Formats: sequence, C-alpha cells, structure tokens
Amino acid sequence: MSETLRAVRGFNDIFPPASEHWQFAEQSAAEVLGRAGYGEVRLPLIESTSLFARSIGVSTDIVEKEMYTFDDRNGDSLSLRPEGTAGCVRAGINHGLFNGSQQRLWYRGPMFRHERPQKGRYRQFHQIGAEAFGIEGPEAEAELIAVATRLWKRLGLNRLRLALNSLGSTDDRERYREALVDFLRRHEAVLDEDSKRRLEANPLRILDSKVKSTREILSGAPHITDFLSVEAQAHFSGLRKRLDALGIAYELDPFLVRGLDYYTGTVFEWTTDALGAQDAVCSGGRYDGLVEQLGGRSTPAVGWALGLERLVLLAGTHGSLPGPALPHAYFVALGEAAECEAQVISERLRDSVPALRLTLNAGAGSMKAQLRRANRLGAGLALIVGDAELEEHKVTLKYLQRDTDQETVAVDDLPAVLTTRIADLG
Ligand code: HAM
Repeated sequence: MSETLRAVRGFNDIFPPASEHWQFAEQSAAEVLGRAGYGEVRLPLIESTSLFARSIGVSTDIVEKEMYTFDDRNGDSLSLRPEGTAGCVRAGINHGLFNGSQQRLWYRGPMFRHERPQKGRYRQFHQIGAEAFGIEGPEAEAELIAVATRLWKRLGLNRLRLALNSLGSTDDRERYREALVDFLRRHEAVLDEDSKRRLEANPLRILDSKVKSTREILSGAPHITDFLSVEAQAHFSGLRKRLDALGIAYELDPFLVRGLDYYTGTVFEWTTDALGAQDAVCSGGRYDGLVEQLGGRSTPAVGWALGLERLVLLAGTHGSLPGPALPHAYFVALGEAAECEAQVISERLRDSVPALRLTLNAGAGSMKAQLRRANRLGAGLALIVGDAELEEHKVTLKYLQRDTDQETVAVDDLPAVLTTRIADLG
C-alpha cells in the first residue's frame, strides 16, 4: 500500500456536523451584517508581500515570522493573506471606493499564519471581518460593537468579555512610547529576552507579554490613556457613552495594544475564559491612517475580525448551535424500474417541498440493506417503492424513529403529506 498523506500541520479538514456549525455561524453573521448595511466583498487569498509589510508593519510578529511568503514564477514576492483588512483597503483603493463616501464592507475566508498550532490556533484559520470606512466619529465603533454583540446573542454566547482601549493619535502614541521605554529601561536587566528585543523595535508590544516577571514590572508602567490628546479623549468617552446607552458591558484595559501597526485610536477585543490560552474571539480597532498610507485618499476607518474556529468552539460548549440536519426521508427503491421512478419522484418532491431533506438510495440493495443505510443516516422516514407501489402509482411511508404504522400514499398526494410529516419530524 502507498504511504498515506496527511494534511499539513496546522491545516484542518472540517466535516459535518462541524461544517454545519460553521454554516450556521457564517449565515448568522451574514444576516446580522447585511441588516446593518454591510455588503460582502470577496477578496484574493494572495497579495503582494509589500502590502502586508506596509500595513501590518515590518517589525510585527505576523510580518517578521508568520507569513507564508514565496516568489511566483515571475519572481514577484507574494504572500498568503495573514488577515483581511490590508486586502480590503487595497481593493477599496483600486475600485475607487474611498472618495469621501461611507462604505460598510465585510468579508470571510481563510487566513494564513505560521504560528505554533494548538487548540484554537491554526496555520490556516478563518475570519469574518467587518470594516466601516469614512466615519470619523465614535458612532462607527459603537455600531460595529453592537453588530458583533447581536451576533453573540444569535449564537447564544455569554462567556465573552469586551476590553477597550485607546491608542490615541500618532503623536500621543509617540509620547507614550518614549515614557514607556524610559520606564522599561529602568527595569531592563530583569526583562525577558523577547521583551528586551522589542524595546527597540516595538516597545508597545511588551504590554502584551505573558511572561510573569515582565507582567509584574508592567504593573507599575505608565498607561497610554494618560497620554491622550483632548480630541482622542473626547472620541473615547463618546464611544463609552454610546456603549453605556446600548447596555453593552466593557472593561477598560490600558495594556490592550494589538499586534498590528495600523491601529490609531480605539482598539477592542472580545475574549473568553472558556477556550484556554487562545482566548481572543474577535478583535479590532480604528485605523484612520491606513487608506492614505496605502496610496488612497485619507479616510477614517474602523473594523473587527472574528476567528471562526474559536467562535464555533465556544458556541459548541457555551452557546447554542443547531443539531445536525438529518434527512427527513430516505428513498428506498427495489428494482431498476422502481429506482428510476424514485429518482423522478425525488426531483418533483424537491421542487414542490423546498424544506424537504431527502436522500435517495444509490447502489441498489435489499430492502433490509437500504433501510440499514436510512437508519445509519438518522432519517425520520423511509419512502419505499417496489413492484406493487410502482403498479399502483403509490409510495409506502415507513416511520424509522417512532412506532407509527406505515401508510401508503398516492404519488400525487406525496407533497402535501410530506409537508405535514416533516413539520412533525422537525
Ligand atoms: P487579529 O487579532 O490578528 O486581527 O485577528 C482577529 C481574530 O482572528 C482573533 O481575535 C482570533 O479570533 C482570530 N485568529 C487570529 N490568529 C488566529 C490563528 N492562528 N488561529 C485561529 N484564529 C486566529 C486582525 O486580523 C485584524 N485584521 C482585525 C481588524 C479588522 N482590525 C480592523 N479591522
């Protein structure tokens, strides 16, 4: 036998019932976003490497060590997208969307990061992202947070905590950066190696450190919220006022900085205590400089992206997901003429009873064998056509999951009968 090939580490296959849970989460998101005026964009999985270097930032973990980057046959450096915001902005610029009008967009699909795989962290993972362009005020953040909150409710999630922070303007952040570096230099000797390295390149990321000794040092570090300009403070309090009015709970986290360089002003993240170390389910923030930085007209922007794997994991343990969509009916056909008739009737039923989930037997088999297949699939009913039914133009209905007598129904009456029977079956 040949050697079995395995999926690449960190890349997953998703089968039913998990894929049905994904569909439910995706459909719920599409509906909630669509109702709030967000339109779906379908974006390429591959972009020029420079797009990510210029947006996410060259000294971020993502660009420095996590991207799948390769030269194509023309020698151009391309990367599998590690996130969706950069591509969304690039596409918006290319399609002339940023002309002073407002745009509400969302996207979904796989993202790629060469991280160390563990529960909730994969190398190919899936995001649903939403981005609002052209809205300067905090109503944009409030809207996006409310939309996500509505989605959590749809999925029955209550183990999510929203953390909020503001990174202020570029100037605010520069002043804060200096104060933070000053403070950390005084403790440099006891900082962990990773943080020492970040002191030069990206000191704000040290605030994210999970190392206990570094966290202890950080408890005395200055807070960015004390460095905010009057405008940044007004924006942030405007957002908090709106969230309070909406009854959306949040915690202020002065150490929430996010791992991508394009953020300006508000940043936010929903985490859960139900998934272990990979606790961020949805994260985002404002990025007012990015459109211009990538060659477009200066356009304020804010957005979030949720991790579908984490969302579905959480909904599976602490939420409400629909049960598997079992077939209502399984069509048993005995003999070639009956098989042909069953196929014709099936198509007619699919036309006239749109809610019907019907599986047609394939590969012949005895009545017993076909009923065994029906039971294995969890079908509620068997529709049976044999010689007698063929002759009388009828179908026998046999209940598989309950103790009800079988009945014989004229083919013409089947749509009406099945409509009521499947309502009973659920
Ligand atoms: P991010 O925090 O890098 O932000 O990713 C957003 C979400 O994607 C995370 O909260 C997490 O749920 C999920 N995620 C990230 N990495 C992985 C992984 N390796 N495995 C599984 N799930 C993962 C962004 O990507 C920004 N583009 C969000 C944004 C949109 N900001 C503004 N607009």
